[in-house]
Amino acid sequence: MEKTLIILKPDCMEKRLAGVVLDRFQKAGLDIVAAKLTRLHDTLLREHYAHIATRPFFPALAQFMGSRPVLVAVLQGENAIARVRELLGPTDSAKAPKGTIRGDYGTDVTVNICHASDSPENASAEINRFFAPNEVFA
Ligand code: TYD
Repeated sequence: MEKTLIILKPDCMEKRLAGVVLDRFQKAGLDIVAAKLTRLHDTLLREHYAHIATRPFFPALAQFMGSRPVLVAVLQGENAIARVRELLGPTDSAKAPKGTIRGDYGTDVTVNICHASDSPENASAEINRFFAPNEVFA
């Protein structure tokens, strides 16, 4: 059993697609073990995106990610980290195949519906960043 962190991004919330996206994960057998609505401010975004904080696209990304409240959740299941990323498709929605969440609902490389942890180390760090241990019902 693995846990992974997802963020339903501002475009997902604005398009009222939270239910549709969570349904994809739940139909794939993943369980929601934590969830909340929160607004991502600069300090947190710099920490969450530390690996890309010096890239030229970071200011636009941070502005987008902080533009409205987002839904943050922890999903649990077998191989959850890889399976959630498979269901999402590649980062660039324009290159994501139809049938993937980003391919069906995303716009481009920034406006791409949902974040998901990419490794066990990052999943653990990201879950701890957003949730206290007693908020995760695993
Ligand atoms: P990355 O960790 O490469 O992708 P993923 O979200 O699939 O794990 O990038 C993190 C986020 O940074 C990505 O979801 C959107 C944003 N981003 C851009 O806005 N422009 C870019 O050129 C890249 C590579 C990423």
